[in-house]
Amino acid sequence: MTTTMDSLAALREYGQEQGYDLSWLEKRETWGVRIEPGKGGLVIDDVERGEHGHAPDESKNMTGRTRGSVPRPGVPRVGNYPVRTKADIWLRNAAELYEEAQQRQWSSATDIPWETITTLPDDIERAECQLTEVEFVAGDVPGKWIASVTPDYFEPRMFLISQVMDEARHLDVFRKRALVNGGGLMQRTAAAAAVTGGSIDSARDFTEMSARLHMSGEGSVLTLFRIGELMAYNDAEKHIYRLAAQDESRHVAFGVMHLQYLSQAAPDRREEIQSYLDEAERNLVTGASGQNPASTGVSSSQALAVLLGGGVDNYDEGVKLLLAARQRQVREYVQRVKVAGFGERFENGRASKMLEQYVKSA
Ligand SMILES: [Fe+2]
Ligand SMILES: [Fe+2]
Repeated sequence: MTTTMDSLAALREYGQEQGYDLSWLEKRETWGVRIEPGKGGLVIDDVERGEHGHAPDESKNMTGRTRGSVPRPGVPRVGNYPVRTKADIWLRNAAELYEEAQQRQWSSATDIPWETITTLPDDIERAECQLTEVEFVAGDVPGKWIASVTPDYFEPRMFLISQVMDEARHLDVFRKRALVNGGGLMQRTAAAAAVTGGSIDSARDFTEMSARLHMSGEGSVLTLFRIGELMAYNDAEKHIYRLAAQDESRHVAFGVMHLQYLSQAAPDRREEIQSYLDEAERNLVTGASGQNPASTGVSSSQALAVLLGGGVDNYDEGVKLLLAARQRQVREYVQRVKVAGFGERFENGRASKMLEQYVKSA
């Protein structure tokens, strides 16, 4: 036995004589192919080359077997994965977004300069506290979908896992903000009898959920985080908004890129997607389902006006700035829909007429 090859062959021969099944010792086509990390380190796209890197259009994998591994017969079905069609979940850059999520994790305990928060006027402090009740549903709902996705589509699956981690951090950082300065947890915003995010939670299809959560709900929150500088009263708040915006922009990008993939891979679903967007626009404007903290008639939008204006005495100025924020929400929403490939709704009259009204009256 002079070479490894010889020892392997000898071992197999010996095993067979003894009645062992040593077929798992078979070398795969990747054997001996070394991969060098690139500038950004060793990323998923570096190693997912070759047959194992290929996500099938349909997945028959019900056993939790990792993609590309050797199947064996007689394995029980450990997973019941309703999402087994690639178009239903896929996007071109899930692996990249997941890598970015990993690299940009931050700590609510140590990355926020909490010591910069000092006593604020009561109206400002109350408004800050009111604004902190976002974020719960955004972690809950993707969490529910993770185990529904076949392991063959592990890239979007792992992205969703990273999103759950991000949302846990958002939940905790805003909770800390509400309590750190002697404020408190205020009444939860609700439009009519709906609870925040109710319709996101009730989605029965992944893309339906993604359109409601990533495109609509998180999209409108992202715009608000992006203007966080304008409503921050100290460095800690600036950090919170900036870091949360960084996370949210990944979540929103996931939704946009998924819709883009689906619209190309399953054009027969385009009309259905347009109907989700009809609903998304209603939610954006009216605050139905509590998806948009800046929408008309919810207490969080009044809190926003107080923060933007610099107090209740400057409420009118705050409302002006709130309208500018809404304008930006709509502009960014339109842009996302266009990138996703559904921009014709703004040309053919399908888009909600209320979008225009939304940016004009408080
Ligand atoms: Fe979030
Ligand atoms: Fe998010």
